Amino acid sequence: MTTTKIWKVREAGESRLRGELKEAAALLAEGGLIAFPTETVYGLGADARSSAAVERIFAAKGRPSDNPLIVHISDRDQLDGLVLPYPELAGELMDRFWPGPLTIVLPAREGALSPLVTAGLPTVGIRIPDHRAALALLREAGCPVAAPSANRSGRPSPTLADHVLDDLDGRLDGIVDDGATGVGLESTVVELAGERTIRILRPGGITAEALLQALPGAFIDSEPTGESESAPRSPGMKYAHYAPKGELELVLGRPEEVTEYIRSRQEAARSRGEKTGVLAFEERLAAYEADQLRSLGSEDELEGAAHVLYAALREMDAAGVQRLWAEGCGEGGIGAALMNRLVKAAGNRVVRV
Ligand code: TXA
Ligand code: MG
Repeated sequence: MTTTKIWKVREAGESRLRGELKEAAALLAEGGLIAFPTETVYGLGADARSSAAVERIFAAKGRPSDNPLIVHISDRDQLDGLVLPYPELAGELMDRFWPGPLTIVLPAREGALSPLVTAGLPTVGIRIPDHRAALALLREAGCPVAAPSANRSGRPSPTLADHVLDDLDGRLDGIVDDGATGVGLESTVVELAGERTIRILRPGGITAEALLQALPGAFIDSEPTGESESAPRSPGMKYAHYAPKGELELVLGRPEEVTEYIRSRQEAARSRGEKTGVLAFEERLAAYEADQLRSLGSEDELEGAAHVLYAALREMDAAGVQRLWAEGCGEGGIGAALMNRLVKAAGNRVVRV
């Protein structure tokens, strides 16, 4: 066990930020394990060049070693040292979306990073996060930083420093606490599948619509989620993920029928003495009477649901909820990422009523 230090930088203005992160950055550069906020979720960072440091990430998370890590940089200048020449379309994506929640899978330059980061793949996923504390820490540390989400493997990703502490206290050297993250779901992971084709390996903060709008003439090729589970191109997608401790069922269909289904299941579970929870959109929240009821905000503004989803799942756990239900949503915009996470959190228990 190590003592986990916490640097609270929420109150620090731009001018003080880098100074307050000096100790965290020095620990990171010396092979330490430091969690930090990004605009998506908190990441668990280590020097991506050091196998000893990166090994600690896998150990702390309990993460399978065949699941590669995303490398975070603060400036495009760092890129050439880490990757081989890449397609023009990748450069256009960087111009348009970095800093931001878009991870681009690029051909890795051999020997530039610890082989543990890429899990033996010839490619590496890279992004520049759009977050003041993340950027300040990366600049101060001066090294590429490998960082998966800072949760124990399989648990919902952390959107608050407290979530990191709940999962990893004593397993890391420190946490930079700059309050709640923004998007609330992880970055979109893409690879280039042809001259003008972008393949979405994991839907996330940058929507398919935003990609198409920014790059007219480009095509999107989304990896189908069902059949390809046995050999996904993004290794992480095959593992159980984002799961609450209670049994979650995701319910899709016409709103009245969804409500009726959840109500009857919830009442039956409660009469069996089980502690129940419901995650529902504001529009129908009042229809439910679960022990734990959490609003996902309005279904007309799914960014709100993305922002609160992981915290809501963790609150269900904290309250000891054994059976829970979530309303599904449309797959337009950030809805694609939301549904992707909900299906996984539900361990594929999805009903269409
Ligand atoms: O928003 C995010 O992306 C957060 C923050 C901390 O940056 N990070 C994150 O990392 O979600 P992680 O490790 O939880 O998810 C990384 C995903 C996995 O699904 C992994 O398989 C995929 O990215 N990935 C990483 N490198 C890859 C590569 N070379 N080829 C294909 N997929 C890759
Ligand atoms: Mg993760």
